[in-house]
Amino acid sequence: MKIRKAVIPAAGLGTRVLPATKAIPKEMLPLADKPTIQYVIEEAVASGIEHVIIVTSRTKRAIEDHFDESPELRAALEKKGDRAKLDMLERIESMAQISFTRQPRARGLGHAILMAKDLVGNEPFGVLLGDDLVMNPDGTPCLRQLMEAHERYGGCVLAAMEVPSEQTRLYGVFDLWPEGDVDEYTHRVRDLVEKPQPEVAPSHLAVIGRYVLTPDIFAALEQTEPGAGGEIQLTDGIRALRGKEPIFAYEFAGTRYDTGDPVGYLTTSLAFALQRPDLAPGVIAYLKTLRLD
Ligand code: UTP
Repeated sequence: MKIRKAVIPAAGLGTRVLPATKAIPKEMLPLADKPTIQYVIEEAVASGIEHVIIVTSRTKRAIEDHFDESPELRAALEKKGDRAKLDMLERIESMAQISFTRQPRARGLGHAILMAKDLVGNEPFGVLLGDDLVMNPDGTPCLRQLMEAHERYGGCVLAAMEVPSEQTRLYGVFDLWPEGDVDEYTHRVRDLVEKPQPEVAPSHLAVIGRYVLTPDIFAALEQTEPGAGGEIQLTDGIRALRGKEPIFAYEFAGTRYDTGDPVGYLTTSLAFALQRPDLAPGVIAYLKTLRLD
């Protein structure tokens, strides 16, 4: 079935980047000069998604405002005759059909996805975490790659990334079926293990923030008890689908950036600025003045 909808959970508390996130949503922090969530929606749209569903909360109103019309800005730019910025506003305000739904309390990623149940309905859908970026500048966007794998093989498809041994304890890690390779990039999943120490990690392939899920995930999440940290974990919901439908790990092409902690945020911001022809020369000139050893 064609995938038309994508959910972006953006209702987390963002405690790792406090105090920046006390009143500003983590997903609205800029990378170079663009809010993180705008890159995420651009990936969804480039992947062919028609309807984006953003899960927000009380402190996340700025996300709704960002994608709404801004008559004052428009009037000011029209007065100045700034066509380029007016076009930019226009692009942001008409990026996609966007719906918002609320998660009353941050009860975990699985719970956030459950909040989108009625808006998604009975069809497979994409998920893009609002603080995780995957760039594949000259190729197929990451979500599109997962959608194509779903179109070929059905089931749930989770983005998989090779991580060094010492980092398995930071991720959900795939346990793959032996002989379970469906093609070069797609592997059948036997289980998922949350944050294993290197010596017990079943592989070096980690789950990152892109998924294609079937609507069966909603019933599974409704039955999921709070797990690690007292939160309803998406991983536990997906594990409950094992044996009922295929689950695949897909080794995507592209570079992944995690903006959810201070170092990740700062390095991603720098990387993005260096990729921008209008910003890079100034940033490089500054970096050259630093004595780094
Ligand atoms: P994270 O665990 O990275 O975000 O969730 P967090 O909980 O905001 O971060 P810290 O640990 O407190 O710093 C990944 C994504 O899932 C969303 C977050 O907004 C983020 O985009 N999320 C997480 C929800 O929407 N609801 C939740 O209850 C938890």
